[in-house]
Amino acid sequence: TERTKYIVGNWKMNQNTQDVIAFFDAIDSTKLRHEAWIAPQAIHIPICLQNTDDFKIGAQNCATENSGAFTGEISPASLKDIGAEFVIIGHSERRSIFKEDDQTLNKKTKLALENDLFVIFCIGETLEEREAGKVEEVLATQLAQGLAGVSSEKIIIAYEPVWAIGTGVTASPEQAQEAHAFIRQYINENLSLDGEKTSILYGGSVKPANVEDLLSCKDIDGGLVGGAALKADSYLGLHV
Ligand code: G3H
Repeated sequence: TERTKYIVGNWKMNQNTQDVIAFFDAIDSTKLRHEAWIAPQAIHIPICLQNTDDFKIGAQNCATENSGAFTGEISPASLKDIGAEFVIIGHSERRSIFKEDDQTLNKKTKLALENDLFVIFCIGETLEEREAGKVEEVLATQLAQGLAGVSSEKIIIAYEPVWAIGTGVTASPEQAQEAHAFIRQYINENLSLDGEKTSILYGGSVKPANVEDLLSCKDIDGGLVGGAALKADSYLGLHV
């Protein structure tokens, strides 16, 4: 199966309006070889949409409800309403800093899908868990609980080993491929998702220098990229 490949930039809590405009100004769209997606801070989604027709624009998080008394939250219905097309759910920073548990992530995922958004569902082990030989156990639990009752072609999975995020330490292509193959088999056998059709992205210190080796692995269908997606040159360097 030829699966679609994606280069998704997660801008996290970076970029001001000038940076956003400069980024899209500097993108030569003839150099985009894969699906090009960017998740800016939610407040910048409209300005991104005004400055590009070549990217899908999405959010880094969403609420568990569509409306109501939830001060400070952003609902998936509102994201859809302003033109967002996807949402990242379960990023390790949401899990660790904001204490989002698997049940909350499951609720967010279902509601985002009901609102016809693509969901990039993130999973990954910590260094401690890897060293204890628990990689598959951790991934299986995050998948089973976070994606319980979920059946959709709008799910993309992102494998992001926590020890590789923002550290400059990338998982080797072999380590990443091994995890991706496990994820594909697991979702095929245990969840209502088509393992062959579901794209699985790798995240964690992806950069132009290592992207080619990662993307050439059989089960790696793209990257979820933080630091190297902030500047247009570097982002374009990921489209190999
Ligand atoms: O969502 C992106 C990941 O957290 C990776 O971030 O590319 O800066 O390591 P990074």
